[in-house]
Amino acid sequence: MGVMVAPSLLSADFGDLRKDLEMINSSEADWLHLDIMDGVFVPNISFGFPVLKYVAKYCTKPLDVHLMIVQPEKFLEQFKDLGAASVNVHYEACTHLNRTINEIKRLGMKAAVTLNPSTPVSMLEEIINDVDMVLLMTVNPGFGGQKFIESSLDKVRRLRKMITEHNSQALIQVDGGVNLETAPLLIEAGVDVLVSGNTVFKADNPIETISKLKQL
Ligand code: DX5
Ligand code: ZN
Repeated sequence: MGVMVAPSLLSADFGDLRKDLEMINSSEADWLHLDIMDGVFVPNISFGFPVLKYVAKYCTKPLDVHLMIVQPEKFLEQFKDLGAASVNVHYEACTHLNRTINEIKRLGMKAAVTLNPSTPVSMLEEIINDVDMVLLMTVNPGFGGQKFIESSLDKVRRLRKMITEHNSQALIQVDGGVNLETAPLLIEAGVDVLVSGNTVFKADNPIETISKLKQL
């Protein structure tokens, strides 16, 4: 199986969202990545349920929700009702991560834990066999279009090693600064899922760009 690609809606044209959703639907994208920001956990606010309702209505791809919010456990039911396929919660935002991961799974969604760039992979030691996916932030969360943090490549390799050693089934996802130059390096390091905002949505031909990422 090749690499999976999850375009990040944060970089879409919100003035003409239907057009971008139709582009995603007709592309080879595997999932649509949705960045939810609360202005507290990260220094930015994105979009909430009134927008998500229409995204869920018109998007035919599985929805991959990335919660950059404090107390993400408060909203899990609402994301289940929205039809989310997977929910990413930040390690740094969860006091009771094990409980929150179990709750996501109990609701029938895939459960993922996300690490900020400064949080070491070793913090996952006790949870790696309980999660469906680990999302490594390859920029500081909050904004699209930032520069890829180079040291992330070694971090991916360390995570791949941990997953193998623990015989875990967790997928490795990366988010931030993924482009046609950084993607091959990430794939070589062991990534399964590429999130990509600006590279896809600001491209002259987004469908072709998604296809190129998939073929790497
Ligand atoms: C950043 C978000 C990302 C963002 C990535 O906090 O989590 O998903 O959309 O954007 P690019 O690919 O432009 O770095
Ligand atoms: Zn994201």
